[in-house]
Amino acid sequence: MSRLIVVSNRVNPPTGKGDESVGGLAMALSAALRQYSGLWFGWSGRTVPAFTGELSIEEFDGVTAATVDLEETDFNEYYNGYANKTLWPLFHYRMDLTAYDRSYGEGYERVNRRFAETLRPLIAPDDLIWVHDYHLIPLARELRALGVRNRIGFFLHVPWPAYQVIATLPGHRQLVQAMFDYDLVGFQTHEYLQAFEEYVLTEAAGERIAPDKLRAFGHTLSVGEFPIGIDAKDFAQMVRGPRARRMRDIMTASTVFKQMIIGVDRLDYSKGLEERFLGFERLLADNPDLRREVLMLQIAPVSREGVDTYQEIRARLDALSGRINGEFADVDWNPVRYVNRNYRRDDLAGIYGAASVGLVTPLRDGMNLVAKEFVAAQDPQDPGVLVLSRFAGAATQLKEALLVNPNSPEEIADALKRALSMGLAERIRRWRALFENVQGEDVEGWRDAFVTALADDDAQSKAALAG
Ligand code: ADP
Ligand code: F6P
Repeated sequence: MSRLIVVSNRVNPPTGKGDESVGGLAMALSAALRQYSGLWFGWSGRTVPAFTGELSIEEFDGVTAATVDLEETDFNEYYNGYANKTLWPLFHYRMDLTAYDRSYGEGYERVNRRFAETLRPLIAPDDLIWVHDYHLIPLARELRALGVRNRIGFFLHVPWPAYQVIATLPGHRQLVQAMFDYDLVGFQTHEYLQAFEEYVLTEAAGERIAPDKLRAFGHTLSVGEFPIGIDAKDFAQMVRGPRARRMRDIMTASTVFKQMIIGVDRLDYSKGLEERFLGFERLLADNPDLRREVLMLQIAPVSREGVDTYQEIRARLDALSGRINGEFADVDWNPVRYVNRNYRRDDLAGIYGAASVGLVTPLRDGMNLVAKEFVAAQDPQDPGVLVLSRFAGAATQLKEALLVNPNSPEEIADALKRALSMGLAERIRRWRALFENVQGEDVEGWRDAFVTALADDDAQSKAALAG
């Protein structure tokens, strides 16, 4: 079997100490690599005044993590800049927040080149290389320029936006052209794959040469839909473990006689947190009988603090949670508990397990793993209800959730009311269907499907023939 080299901006080796970084990509890759002795390459999370290309190598459970520090200018132009001020908002349909600055694009290209140069000496001829997410779209082009002929795949964790949206990006053609230096490009859902294909077929005058193959810019590319999952088996085991059970007991004791609504999200404007708070406020305003019977716990660790839009959303949420508590709280009841810390995974499992409702309402989300974790953490005899945004990739799989339009506080309030009063039989019926999906399409299946497709020599030779 070939060695797998995973490349992502964020590297999150499974230390088991609970200090892993937060985010779907990090959670999924640490789980996916756990049984696959491979190499994980990316940013160390540190910045230095000048780039050296020096590698830090660490071993965890058979995984070798090789990371490199970023120069401060690179961090600002590539990570804070092009990745998180340009591509992130654009790919999440926030054209109003998308910043176009030539220095960001230059920083993005430079870091991809530096990553390629640093990674190049570590690559053996048979290695499969799997690159992740919007930070690293041009990486294959840079590796090819250095003579790398290995199979290289790319998986996009975030949405691929509609053709008319991506076309607003200066240099969009160059970005898409860079994707044709991969052998395989994978998306979370059919919708994102279709949007990509539409761009290629119309804007790039490409052609479809097989159901899953596109030809454009003089190259042939395999494309596919690979919905990411969670480490369902580990998670289910964790839920039954002592730490999660203890956390669940603590939460149950601290919310006694009340139903808890749980939200867990990085503090990001794409997560629809303001609209969610407004939905909860509406629920309390319209249903005086529910006051004191219910509380909302929102866990939202701060994220990307170097980007001003993230500082602004943080300030707005502080104000909004304060306003709701000021309006409705009593001496012995606070409707909103809002915390900005990270928790160990087994603690989170216990917290999810104590909740009656999982409230997951991103305005746009590539997949959303929190929705799947909430499902996996429920008691099969007395499960909670998932309220899910129709604009999360997960909505295409978790169809038995209560699906809502996250832009509408009224719809959120109505769904919450329905969830809080749902009878046991309906809750069990819905949960069983959700759990079957979460278990059946887990992170190992996702990894195996992608790696098998990437390693498929047959696909490679067919592509060469067609070329
Ligand atoms: P994104 O990748 O956009 O952050 P996802 O929902 O796909 O969104 O993934 C978020 C991941 O981060 C989940 O695995 C979730 O458990 C984890 N996470 C979110 N908040 C916390 C927190 N406060 N502490 C620990 N893990 C968290
Ligand atoms: O899943 C989307 C994503 O951007 C991942 O790429 C990333 O690991 C996560 O969100 C957290 O963001 P960041 O790496 O910027 O902290």
